[in-house]
Amino acid sequence: TPTFRIALIAGDGIGKEVMPEGLRVVLAAAERFGFELDCRTIEWASCDYYAQHGQMMPDDWKEQLRGVDALYFGAVGWPDTVPDHVSLWGSLLKFRREFDQYINLRPVRLFEGVPCPLAGRKPGDIDYLVVRENTEGEYTSLGGVMYEGTEREIVIQESVFSRHGTDRVLKYAYELAQSRKRKHLTVATKSNGIAISMPWWDGRADAVGRDYPDVTIDKQHIDILSARFVLQPTRFDVVVASNLFGDILSDLGPATTGTIGLAPSANLNPERKFPSLFEPVHGSAPDIYGQNIANPIAMIWSGALMLDFLTQGQGAGRAAHDAILGAIEAVLRDGPRTRDLGGTASTTEVGTAIAERVAAA
Ligand code: NAD
Ligand code: IPM
Ligand code: MN
Repeated sequence: TPTFRIALIAGDGIGKEVMPEGLRVVLAAAERFGFELDCRTIEWASCDYYAQHGQMMPDDWKEQLRGVDALYFGAVGWPDTVPDHVSLWGSLLKFRREFDQYINLRPVRLFEGVPCPLAGRKPGDIDYLVVRENTEGEYTSLGGVMYEGTEREIVIQESVFSRHGTDRVLKYAYELAQSRKRKHLTVATKSNGIAISMPWWDGRADAVGRDYPDVTIDKQHIDILSARFVLQPTRFDVVVASNLFGDILSDLGPATTGTIGLAPSANLNPERKFPSLFEPVHGSAPDIYGQNIANPIAMIWSGALMLDFLTQGQGAGRAAHDAILGAIEAVLRDGPRTRDLGGTASTTEVGTAIAERVAAA
């Protein structure tokens, strides 16, 4: 039997509540479809660990993860005790960078049975993929503060767009679009206001696109693109965006499908030189933590993406992915549902219901 080694990092807040449900479902899928998951629980990369050690991860974190095929990740952040930029730069953002997970793939889909906040929309009207650049762009720690604490205080925060980093995410997005029925790529830009990086980004989109003549593209400024996520969601198929624009779009998109509690993500190193990381789009949700009411579906769907990626979309892993998606669809249609979807079920009840359907698939 094929065996995959998974590091489980629950992190903080509801990360600790959705992780057991995600695990329950991926283990049920492994048993049902005949592969082995060799799971190792990691206690670090959490604000609890920080409270004890003064840092988010041990110095030898990379050695500890040697041989791991994927990271299954809950959420990090507990701003009451650790500033967010410290906890996130010390964990999640470090994984993305050090493991060169330059693609953040974030599917957005409206499901049957989920009330849509956009009037008149039905399943099928919202079904697109956000491809977010995940290692550079606006997310940097380059810059500084001058004349600190005075009236003249100046803050500079640099962005970084490399040709290598930009071309590879564009190439991935074009290929993904090419593999789909509509073959349409929307390029998020802001070349009217951000006068250096964004006109250059648009130029790279054209240059890379020459290799994909069958893919149609449209470039949209991020402001109107956001409006169209709400007003004209049927326009979208694959959307490629810089790190920050992609971050914003990947909360907005899921919000239009009823809740961010459904939205999964795959932080990919497509070359498989390093492990990839699979996590919900949402965070640690301190406002609902401790009540067992968080929606576990984002975590569970992320687990399905993990199994699919590990097996390169073939055989048992693809079957496991499809079975999990089918179980998610069934539970969203027939219940049980968590509170964010208007239900009263607990995190555990929803996870268990999905796991049972996967086992019976
Ligand atoms: P958040 O995603 O944690 O929560 C936003 C809102 O959505 C909250 O009202 C929350 O209750 C709700 N929500 C989120 N997930 C839900 C779920 N599964 N079911 C039901 N409701 C859900 O965003 P935030 O409040 O901006 O951030 C809280 C902390 O999480 C911060 O420390 C932030 O930095 C961190 N964060 C981490 C990640 C990550 O680890 N990938 C992502 C986003 C935010
Ligand atoms: C996400 C999160 C992270 C990001 C934060 C927690 C740093 O919002 O995964 O979308 O901005 O990438
Ligand atoms: Mn985000």
